[in-house]
Amino acid sequence: MKRSIRDLVNIEGKKILLRADFNLPMNKVGRFTDTTRLVNELPTIRFLVERGAKVIICSHLGRPKGFDFRLSLWPISLMLMKYFPGKVQFAHKVVGDEVKLQVDSLSNGSILLLENVRFYKEETENDPNFAKQLASLADIYVNDAFGVAHRKHASTYGVARLLPNAIGFLVENEINIITNALENPKSPFVAIFGGAKVEDKIDAILNILKTADSVLIGGAMAYSFMMARGQTIGRSFSSMESVKTAEEILNQAQAAGKKLLLPVDHVAYDYADKKQRTFVTETLSGEMVGSDIGPKTIKMFEKEIDEAKQVIWNGPLGKYEDDKFKKGTFEIAKAIGHSNAYSIVGGGDSVSAVKQARCLNLINHVSTGGGATLKLLEGAELPGIEVIQEKYI
Ligand code: 3PG
Repeated sequence: MKRSIRDLVNIEGKKILLRADFNLPMNKVGRFTDTTRLVNELPTIRFLVERGAKVIICSHLGRPKGFDFRLSLWPISLMLMKYFPGKVQFAHKVVGDEVKLQVDSLSNGSILLLENVRFYKEETENDPNFAKQLASLADIYVNDAFGVAHRKHASTYGVARLLPNAIGFLVENEINIITNALENPKSPFVAIFGGAKVEDKIDAILNILKTADSVLIGGAMAYSFMMARGQTIGRSFSSMESVKTAEEILNQAQAAGKKLLLPVDHVAYDYADKKQRTFVTETLSGEMVGSDIGPKTIKMFEKEIDEAKQVIWNGPLGKYEDDKFKKGTFEIAKAIGHSNAYSIVGGGDSVSAVKQARCLNLINHVSTGGGATLKLLEGAELPGIEVIQEKYI
């Protein structure tokens, strides 16, 4: 078990470098569209502030190549100020003498938010010198950036090796809930996977097959599974590699005697039809492009969800960003929300679908991670967590 901030004693006056994930989704004009990651970070910040620590917060935003004012964390500091009035300062840099001066001027229980750490290429390179400079700002390092815990970067990994460290509440919660659901599932355990590429999810599906009672597949990846089963898919999305991967999963599911359900009907359109008029079909052939699960599949999946005691969902079940093809994803989001099963939803698209279907509050655990959640579902180690010291050492 990793050391948590609860295990830190006498932190009054201590400088704590807190790695958060303030990579909030943005629309085209640069406005934040969702603040869940920031709101979920508040308990950790509050805990440290209330105990009189000097909290230096570090985060990335987007994937900038050098300085990019559109990805500055300055607007995040304004949001933090609303929660911690009079306690928040912003540093226009991440390392260096200027930042050190700002850190030195911090009073107990106050916060300094550093600029976007990815403005420095040394961050993603996990540059040891950059990690050293980050470490020189603080006495203790706390990782609470679950969404980026699968990255071996200077602020998520390198710096942790140089300072006494712990995980924050958000990371602790994510790890406990997801690991527990995988290791001690409530049965029947139904896992639902969607999204475009089965290659991205193969390890997660194979790992979940060990404990799940049934796996439901939708989204574009379903067409590769259908091809692997010898069904035609018309002009629906697939690739040789995906079909091979799907075949491997089907074989493993069969060998383990697990139920793996594929769509039995589809919402499709004809590739040659410029108006892209949609229709429901049980078979995909010729120029047909499958783009969502059909009504029979929705019913079949709803029944599985209804009978489940635990559901994990990752990835949309159709092209849900297009109004014509969002029904499948939305209906499944609603079914999960209204079921009595313990529910975990992860991955940006599924979380956004749950939100749009107004079911967010009905989900037991909405993961703040995308890639990191998938890694955890794979049973893989997350470098940003592994590097943190164990509780009793
Ligand atoms: C995320 O949004 O999934 C995390 O913040 C990680 O971002 P990244 O994929 O750019 O590393």
